[in-house]
Amino acid sequence: MNIYLDNSATTKPHDEVIEYMVSVMRESYGNPSSLHGAGLAAERIVREARGRVAAVFGAKTACVIFTSGGTESNNTAIIRGALSRRRQGRRVITTRAEHPSVLESCAALAAEGFDIVYADVDSDGRVIPASVEALANDNTVLISCIHVNNETGVIQPTDAVFDIAEACGRRAGRRIGVHVDAVQSFGKLSVASLARRADFISVSAHKLHGPKGAGALFVARDARIEPLIVGGGQERGLRSGTENVPAIAGFGLAALMAGRDPNARAERIAACKRRLLEGISAGVDDIKLNGSCGTDAVPHILNISFLGVKGEVLLHDLERHGVFVSTGAACSSKKKGGSRVLAAMGLSAAESEGAIRFSLGDFNTEEEMDRAAEAVCSCVRRFRNLGRYR
Ligand SMILES: Cc1ncc(COP(=O)(O)O)c(C=O)c1O
Repeated sequence: MNIYLDNSATTKPHDEVIEYMVSVMRESYGNPSSLHGAGLAAERIVREARGRVAAVFGAKTACVIFTSGGTESNNTAIIRGALSRRRQGRRVITTRAEHPSVLESCAALAAEGFDIVYADVDSDGRVIPASVEALANDNTVLISCIHVNNETGVIQPTDAVFDIAEACGRRAGRRIGVHVDAVQSFGKLSVASLARRADFISVSAHKLHGPKGAGALFVARDARIEPLIVGGGQERGLRSGTENVPAIAGFGLAALMAGRDPNARAERIAACKRRLLEGISAGVDDIKLNGSCGTDAVPHILNISFLGVKGEVLLHDLERHGVFVSTGAACSSKKKGGSRVLAAMGLSAAESEGAIRFSLGDFNTEEEMDRAAEAVCSCVRRFRNLGRYR
């Protein structure tokens, strides 16, 4: 049996989610904008899903805009959030340890004349609040910061970022927008405290055992934003296009399921992560933990550099043992040049090259962790012997 440890790239959907989506496709195929009964039935399904997603935010349903996923939510919040404030200033603050959909959205803004500045991160990939503070000036319109780093799992000090935005906004006499990319934390950590202070929060369904191609952007009631996609005026005019009703329905159910017994689930996954790290540490030396295994990181991500081994080669060898992992963010792992996040954390080229991300989900077991650790140790030892490491 394969051991799937790439849950930060995507997760296996719950059977209940699949069954519900199939039933929606078969029976509730109306267009939610149609005025007849079939349309109203589809609209009811979208409304129920919106309620379920809003409940995770602890927010009103009007704050939830369905999108095609995290990438679109990030593009909308950053590009359109900043452009809608362009008369007030042109500075956007972010970090180099963000997902490519954030960094590329910022690059698109730079091409429009925005001043994009990057706050420093520490050696665990955590943003340094003093660095954000030093960059926040009267020209600042938006700060974008990830909630949980997708490569290392560290939890960002978002409260400090909100405090800085508020203080800077008071000095400038206007509100400074804060966007949080919560794709890796939604349904795993509480995001209600974020929703009380953020202007925009991006989330995605396929990271919590829901379908691909569905996500949401939380937009605070008083936040200013223009649509990225225009047309029929769906989603309060903020995201036109006929709603992907089955995927939205699946997203809603996955969000509801994620809310069941979250502490017990987190404990179980944390125990798996500890067991995997212990098994690997006992079997091979010269490894470096990137991020943390403590309470300042999520339980489902473990990033380790195996010195003297190329991560990509290890990944393929592990696949022969039926263990699926990744070398970094799935969307950037096919690109050359290594992880931008690990580089921002100050890892050497050798440490970055030997990095493997193990990411856990609801279906993993402790027994799988023992088998995965055994496979990792045997592959690493073999490569080190071949390469006459030390
Ligand atoms: C932190 C983060 N943001 C955004 C995304 C993009 O989400 P999606 O795949 O739904 O477009 C990902 C996906 O890996 C992610 O990990």
